[in-house]
Amino acid sequence: MSIELTAAPSLALPIVRGATEQHRLPRLAVAGITKRFSGHAAIDDVTFSVREHEFVALLGPSGAGKTTLFRCVTGLIATDRGQIRLDGEDVSTLQGHARRRIAVVFQQFNLVSRLTALENVLAGRLGYVPLWRGWLRQFERADRLLGLECLDRVGLLAQASQRADTLSGGQQQRVAIARALAQQPSIIVADEPVASLDPNAGAGVLELLREIARSGGVAVICSLHQVPFARTYADRIIGLSCGRMVIDVPTQEFDEAAYVRLYGAQRNGSLTPPTQEGAPMKPPAQNELYAS
Ligand SMILES: Nc1ncnc2c1ncn2[C@@H]1O[C@H](COP(=O)(O)OP(=O)(O)OP(=O)(O)O)[C@@H](O)[C@H]1O
Ligand SMILES: [Mg+2]
Repeated sequence: MSIELTAAPSLALPIVRGATEQHRLPRLAVAGITKRFSGHAAIDDVTFSVREHEFVALLGPSGAGKTTLFRCVTGLIATDRGQIRLDGEDVSTLQGHARRRIAVVFQQFNLVSRLTALENVLAGRLGYVPLWRGWLRQFERADRLLGLECLDRVGLLAQASQRADTLSGGQQQRVAIARALAQQPSIIVADEPVASLDPNAGAGVLELLREIARSGGVAVICSLHQVPFARTYADRIIGLSCGRMVIDVPTQEFDEAAYVRLYGAQRNGSLTPPTQEGAPMKPPAQNELYAS
């Protein structure tokens, strides 16, 4: 099969080199949001922004409010207070495919197992195409080419016609990222995207998300439980504790004090969690993450 990929709407945007943070446009601006459940604040007066080309890691202990924050950002639940803007527009007013500019990547991939990789990616075009086309999975050539380009971008063009349930976990998460790209989003919100993957596959997925942010101008915010991954891949780390944002620093400034502030006193006195033997663990170098 010969595919003319250049005929599809291109995802590749120029890499902006040397642009300072101030010069980059805020994709997502969250201002003073609060979300309560039965009177308890799961999110309490949280403010931050994510700029284009930025890969932000969201850290915090279990129950800190990371998923709740993402559910507010994606419009799945309404906030009690505050405002969330996407490219300057209030997300609560976004309708139809404008809402598709926020793409979500889940821990459990959320693919349709009996569909092929390409068919799953084309689900990212729903909302852009007439409803009947989505129902019948009758996508136009331009959408199919875009879907293939997205699969190519995540390194899975050869698996386009493979059923999703026959792909490895790492490949399934890449398909989910390709589906997110097919939405042509302003921001990708990834809630623990590597929690179900082995360390190498997880590192590959984070490297891919970072590359998408760098070269595509798509902002990425990604919750993680692995501090070393955040320190290796993120440009900035924000941290939630008991619903409040207690950290917002460039990654190189995420130090031991920041770790303690977020997770409390450490048992081993190191920045990162202990290894099985109890020895302090260094943040992994990229080549170590790929070592067999
Ligand atoms: N629909 C809901 N109804 C009531 N309480 C909720 C609801 N959703 C979340 N919460 C509560 O909000 C708090 C934050 O939960 P959330 O799932 O956002 O944490 P998290 O940081 O994502 O945790 P984890 O790292 O374990 O995924 C928890 O106390 C949780 O019980
Ligand atoms: Mg969560």
